Amino acid sequence: MSETSQATEARTFSPPEQLAAHANVGPEIYDEAAADRLAFWAKAARRLTWTQEWDEVLDWSNPPFAKWFAGGKLNVAYNCVDRHVEDGHGDQVAYHWEGEPGDTRTITYAQLKDEVCKAANALTELGVRAGDRVAIYMPMIPEAVIAMLACARIGAVHMVVFGGFSADALASRLDDSGAVLVITADGGYRRGAPSALKPAVDDAVGRSSGVRNVLVVKRTEQDVEWTEGRDLWWDDVVGRQSTEHEPESFDAEHPLYIMYTSGTTAKPKGILHTSGGYLTQVSFTHWASFDLKADDDVFWTAADVGWVTGHSYIVYGPLSNRATSVMYEGTPETPHRGRWFELIQKYGVTILYTAPTVIRTFMKWGEDIPAGFDLTTLRVLGSVGEPINPEAWLWYHKNIGGGRCPIVDTWWQTETGGHMINPLPGVTTLVPGSAQAPFPGISAKVVDDEGNELGDDSTGLLVITDPWPSMLRTIWGDDQRYVDTYWSRFAEKGFYFAGDGAKKDADGNIWLLGRVDDVMNVSGHRISTTEVESSLVAHPAVAEAAVVGASDPTTGQGIVAFVILRGSAEQQGEGASGDDLVQTLRNHVARDIGPIAKPRQIMVVQELPKTRSGKIMRRLLRDIAENRELGDVTTLTDSSVMNMIKEKLPAAP
Ligand code: WT7
Repeated sequence: MSETSQATEARTFSPPEQLAAHANVGPEIYDEAAADRLAFWAKAARRLTWTQEWDEVLDWSNPPFAKWFAGGKLNVAYNCVDRHVEDGHGDQVAYHWEGEPGDTRTITYAQLKDEVCKAANALTELGVRAGDRVAIYMPMIPEAVIAMLACARIGAVHMVVFGGFSADALASRLDDSGAVLVITADGGYRRGAPSALKPAVDDAVGRSSGVRNVLVVKRTEQDVEWTEGRDLWWDDVVGRQSTEHEPESFDAEHPLYIMYTSGTTAKPKGILHTSGGYLTQVSFTHWASFDLKADDDVFWTAADVGWVTGHSYIVYGPLSNRATSVMYEGTPETPHRGRWFELIQKYGVTILYTAPTVIRTFMKWGEDIPAGFDLTTLRVLGSVGEPINPEAWLWYHKNIGGGRCPIVDTWWQTETGGHMINPLPGVTTLVPGSAQAPFPGISAKVVDDEGNELGDDSTGLLVITDPWPSMLRTIWGDDQRYVDTYWSRFAEKGFYFAGDGAKKDADGNIWLLGRVDDVMNVSGHRISTTEVESSLVAHPAVAEAAVVGASDPTTGQGIVAFVILRGSAEQQGEGASGDDLVQTLRNHVARDIGPIAKPRQIMVVQELPKTRSGKIMRRLLRDIAENRELGDVTTLTDSSVMNMIKEKLPAAP
């Protein structure tokens, strides 16, 4: 009587007939890409407007430093905005923006063009030049997008820092990138209240030497400290500019942005993306992976522009494709747990792109909530950020997708810039829980420790074997770290090592198994944390689970699970019968996956520690499981979670 899990789910889902018949891309796209990879990407690049054709599609003469479309020139902002206005689509809505308190703004492509031009003129007036770095520390308001595009328009390099990050995190990023300007707001709305941003900027800028000005958007109207001569109101400086601005063309390899991401060490890495190749891949993947129809779709990436998901699939992908997007400022539970569904109904969203952690939260809240809204406009669903366990996949498919929408599980990274491994909604027969196949034109393999390609039905490491257009070009200011981090593990073969484990099933589908440091080794057997989590979440009593491998004197690693119970099971888990439930869950996993996967220990908790991008911080859970001092907690959304967990727990063995 084992429930559905990664180990046992056998159902597959073929593309809806109607969608397949009108899909942007059909099955032949794989053959086309395989026949001539570079010609395929050159064709994708021609979807954009270039002012000068490239000399060479790919220059890989100095690996791992790639040049895509070298010699070509374009303006990224022109491609995202102006050309649609010139083509007669100025009145089309670019963003239906909704603030958390319920205020709204509708921004057409023509209005966006005017605003971007004004902001570009303002940046120029403030002395920002091509190549300069501009920090953006904003809530999810349209000015965040306008600021990014204004930078792109004048060739300045934007460096967006997620608004939830601390002053410390901002300071180190300002320092490392050498930013000359910070664009921010007084605050934004979060969980029903204004949340200040300016104090963190004051703190961070006070410690930095390079920042000349702080440009402040008024959003919450809260009081702010003001440094005369340095601080400027956006409304004053941008407001008085002309809407005329001539876009300059930049080299395809001109830097577009830096996005910091945490690695295994304390110092975050500044991932550098450039212009032509990046825009080519995010634009093409956005169009093909989601079957985006510019005239009909209402597209919603429910993420923050402070992450790469927001950069590629709220800003650059959708705008380059002339999409109409929804942009939402706040949290899913404010003012009620149906807020997202209300927005889907209100704007007639047709494509929704979100993360498994959100889906599992919705599962916890119950299917009655989405059932109360009209979600029938939806036609394609997307998932990103971590493996989506089959249980969550099926729930998403049934309760949000009405059983009719393909789910596109997209594997990629800050470093890859755009989608790398995912099914295509009009082509692929979906296997719940698997990202399935490399995107056309992407060469990925599952290999063993020596880099030898593995056959079907085996587990190993994911590598990318050939450069791709939206790949990171380096780590800002540290070429050597770029080489060491991504290219040294399989240096002889010249593979990019993504840091993820992967398995190929008997049919050749790729299943991502989480970061390799999350793959446990129990008595010489490889077990994925994801696989055990999947099994636990498949049990009716469990809402969410996080699994870590804790060092164990006899087995190498032992499996320790942290579980959040569903509402109905909560009392049981806390009461006297809690021990029984824990035994039941351990046996459930043993039955589901195999005795080797039986957790050594299961701890019932109220919350799990998550980063602001929604990833469970297993490192901290491992610290608890191994009874150690807690490591760095600064990237947690809420650091009090760890105290809560510690207080509730008996000392770990
Ligand atoms: C890591 C990259 C991609 C934008 C958001 C996260 C994991 C991401 C998936 C997926 C399995 C996934 C990987 C990857 N990951 N998407 N669909 N299935 N794992 O970007 O913070 O750079 O994280 O997220 O482990 O390496 P990121």
